Amino acid sequence: MTAFAYRKSSLHAEGVPLSAIADAVGTPTYVYSAAALTERFREVTEAFAGHPHLICYSVKANSNLAILKLFTALGSGFDIVSGGELARVKQAGGDAGKTVFAGVGKTPDEMAQALSSGIRLFNVESAEELEALDAVGRRAGRRAPFALRVNPDVDARTHRYIATGLKTSKFGVPFEEAVALYAKAKKMKGVQALGLDCHIGSQLTRTAPMRAALTKVADLYVTLKAKGHALEYLDVGGGLGITYSDETPPSPQEYARTVLAAVKPTGATLLLEPGRSLVGNAGVLLTRVLYRKPTETRTFVVVDAGMNDLIRPALYEAHHALQPLVKRRGKDVQVDVVGPVCESTDVLAKGRSLVLPRQGELFAFMSAGAYGMSMASTYNSRPRPAEVLVDGEAWRVVRERERVEDLWRGERA
Ligand code: LLP
Repeated sequence: MTAFAYRKSSLHAEGVPLSAIADAVGTPTYVYSAAALTERFREVTEAFAGHPHLICYSVKANSNLAILKLFTALGSGFDIVSGGELARVKQAGGDAGKTVFAGVGKTPDEMAQALSSGIRLFNVESAEELEALDAVGRRAGRRAPFALRVNPDVDARTHRYIATGLKTSKFGVPFEEAVALYAKAKKMKGVQALGLDCHIGSQLTRTAPMRAALTKVADLYVTLKAKGHALEYLDVGGGLGITYSDETPPSPQEYARTVLAAVKPTGATLLLEPGRSLVGNAGVLLTRVLYRKPTETRTFVVVDAGMNDLIRPALYEAHHALQPLVKRRGKDVQVDVVGPVCESTDVLAKGRSLVLPRQGELFAFMSAGAYGMSMASTYNSRPRPAEVLVDGEAWRVVRERERVEDLWRGERA
């Protein structure tokens, strides 16, 4: 399905012209498609239908309450990395019992809150964290359910900033230390080993690294079971990539075939933590052209969205396609599309061929549903964008544009 497509010359989200939203709500604004979110979720869950599994949508990709609520209604669980994300899940009506808690720096307070909320699984990332969780469990008079996140030392072949499965990464415990840590945990009164976890990186477009990592991890799972650990869950993390420009990531079906072939010998219930692959292509960022600025070396197009609104190009040299909300004929020119932020890295699209934009013209940065708004900041004291959810012919604001007064909430002059 293409939730974002031209009808005549006007770019629509489902049945709604995006220019109508931009005119009503202003820019910059994130727009999401409920149909695209739903279809993608169903596609992934259907791909795993033959195997016991739970999808734990990775909240960090896009944590808007309306999106969490939509996924809750579809039966999703959640993957969280902070007490704040747990609070969001609960606020949206999500089930802590279907939620897994990852991250290298959970505080004892966050652990205690999650435990009392009935979290499904803590994904523990170090020996000291395991001890802290044990203390939290003992204080609460319960055994905190946990999986160790192991680092399989596999090159995910993705951007180095979003690879997590190499020895040099801060994530997970070294593969070789896992058996001893599970043995140690068995003597602890405040924890109970229920699973094994790994995640090798994000925006994965090849199956070979997934296969390599999961085969190693499945072997370890079988070894641990043989040693008498009553594990139930194998958490394979997230990471499935999407098409931003010309990438050809595996389809959900191909992804499922790869995962299932590797983990079949374990008999475990699978936990999956997709983020980007569920929301990335279900969202766009609308922006308006402020100025054109031809210089000796290039033509800049200054738009009203900046790196504070969408940081991916500045942080990962990421490519987001740029489409006019109303198509126009004309000769293509090469432009750099830049934001208003006072940083040289505030370039949202470099060297793109476009019909020279006019002042006031509207554009959409495509594939912006994941790690767009969730990574937005107020740098340069710029209020964060509004968010809109489209459903068929209907649309509604699911987060108001931040107001200038919000910028100093909690400050004292
Ligand atoms: N599970 C774990 C343990 C993770 O660390 C992540 C992402 C996910 C699941 C979800 O991964 P996904 O399915 O979305 O690839 N901000 C970066 C991506 C950072 C990913 C961090 N961890 C970006 O914009 O590309």
